[in-house]
Amino acid sequence: MQYRTFGRTGWKVSEIGYGMWGLAAWTGSDEKEIEASLDAAVDLGCNFFDTAWAYSSGKSEKILGGLLRRHPQSRLYTATKIPPKNFIWPSKRDFTLDDCFPPEHIIEYTEKSLKNIGVETIDLQQFHVWEDGWVDDERWQKAVSKLKEEGKIRAVGVSVNRWEPDNCLKTLKTGLIDSVQVIYNIFDQAPEDSLFPLCEELNIAVIARVPFDEGTLTGAITKDTKFPEDDWRSSYFVPENLESSVEHVQKIRAFVPAGMTIAEMALRFILCNKTISTTIPGMRKLNHLKSNIGTSDGKDLPPDLLAELKKHRWDRQPTSWSQ
Ligand SMILES: NC(=O)c1ccc[n+]([C@@H]2O[C@H](COP(=O)([O-])OP(=O)(O)OC[C@H]3O[C@@H](n4cnc5c(N)ncnc54)[C@H](OP(=O)(O)O)[C@@H]3O)[C@@H](O)[C@H]2O)c1
Repeated sequence: MQYRTFGRTGWKVSEIGYGMWGLAAWTGSDEKEIEASLDAAVDLGCNFFDTAWAYSSGKSEKILGGLLRRHPQSRLYTATKIPPKNFIWPSKRDFTLDDCFPPEHIIEYTEKSLKNIGVETIDLQQFHVWEDGWVDDERWQKAVSKLKEEGKIRAVGVSVNRWEPDNCLKTLKTGLIDSVQVIYNIFDQAPEDSLFPLCEELNIAVIARVPFDEGTLTGAITKDTKFPEDDWRSSYFVPENLESSVEHVQKIRAFVPAGMTIAEMALRFILCNKTISTTIPGMRKLNHLKSNIGTSDGKDLPPDLLAELKKHRWDRQPTSWSQ
């Protein structure tokens, strides 16, 4: 496993982190398999775990707590998120700070997360939606500063809404934000335009989330794929999205090098970008975990392949189904 510096915190985090949404909140999760995958991740050097209160009302956070207790000798970095008070993802331009993050809510949900994870300090507390229009409201600023002073959190991050990477730029300039979590993958390259240069300038850590575009960039999703009704992907992969995503993946299949999978190529694409501090694939199956961690070998994709993949940038706009 290769390690990268997590912005100004100075933490040395594994460049392959662990996305903990699916294991608690998607259908088809097997408890024993998840535990084995998490334990194997630690054994293989993964030390950054991204969860959220919203991943099944604290269930994912409790699973992270169990992992910490099984590996007391390992320094594992805990990242979680405060849900918006109105529980609506993503936020909209006309939502106010009072709708989403009034100060007492920031404190209340940090306390809940501390309890769920079973720690005295959370390494990284993130806002689970964000609007740059809230930047000047001192109430969120005071709330996170208080949590830091009290030793309840070490760092603060913003998790930006899907396909809105620039909806946090003013906020990053407050100097209060240590990290940003953003969708970045072969399709979603827009964060390279403005967000990444600013993060470089301000030494803000970048967490690249959704490396496989929620699964399409593994090649496993086809136009016939159907998700159970109680799985959020059934409302995300509506026909319009499913069909165009599968067609976009089809266009990159021809470039996958011999002996490599699409998933491996997708992760290596992200790791080639040195602004990224860590990427956090969701992975429940042990074979996925092992192959994903296997990409952290310090070897970049060949420059001509990287240049080809850059052409597959796909800029999308938030819609009624994009969530
Ligand atoms: N608003 C936010 O802040 C927000 C939103 C979305 C996600 N996130 C974070 O980002 C993390 C990652 O995103 P995600 O989990 O939504 O999507 P993702 O990482 O793009 O895709 C996860 C899917 O890829 C599959 N997979 C993983 N490795 C694979 C491999 N080597 N070969 C084939 N398939 C593979 C997983 O299967 P298995 O699970 O069956 O192994 C799962 O179905 C989340 O877990 C969460 O921590 C945050």
